[in-house]
Amino acid sequence: MSRLTVFNESTPEAPFFVTENAAAMAGKLADIGVQFERWESPVALAPEDSAEVILEAYRPYLNELMGTKGAGSADVIKLTPDNPAAPAMRTKFLSEHIHTEDEIRFFVHGGGHFVMHVDGKVYDAYCEAGDLISVPANTKHWFDAGPAPFFTALRVFVDTSGWVPHFTGDEISARFPVA
Ligand SMILES: [Fe+2]
Repeated sequence: MSRLTVFNESTPEAPFFVTENAAAMAGKLADIGVQFERWESPVALAPEDSAEVILEAYRPYLNELMGTKGAGSADVIKLTPDNPAAPAMRTKFLSEHIHTEDEIRFFVHGGGHFVMHVDGKVYDAYCEAGDLISVPANTKHWFDAGPAPFFTALRVFVDTSGWVPHFTGDEISARFPVA
């Protein structure tokens, strides 16, 4: 179940807002400029489906999204627990960072936590299959899919160089381990 949990940055043990309602998640995230939507899957896709099949299935959605965002390209990222690169990839995005363009992801399978840090608050958005999230450029955030990551996600880019993380040096993510 998708879920949004919001904390004050000083009280990681005591969230003051929790919801699993998609509309409530979207409303709360909109307060910080984060777009959240649930999409109905147009077809049943299997985790082993190729990137091409997945992109084709979501092409109408992607075309609309890319038009809205002025985005130039989309691809598919898959991560499974048996991938030897999984621990390194987890570590890379687990530290607080920003990007110079919006980080736009749609979960096809599995899930992961996008955690935004804005105005003294921490917004932990657990996204799963069917969820679109768009984190605005320059919003401090991190991502964690846990020690055994399993997800397939569409990524949308305006300019792929914008995807490079710029780390803030704040170690706040260590105080907010995701469930
Ligand atoms: Fe990021």
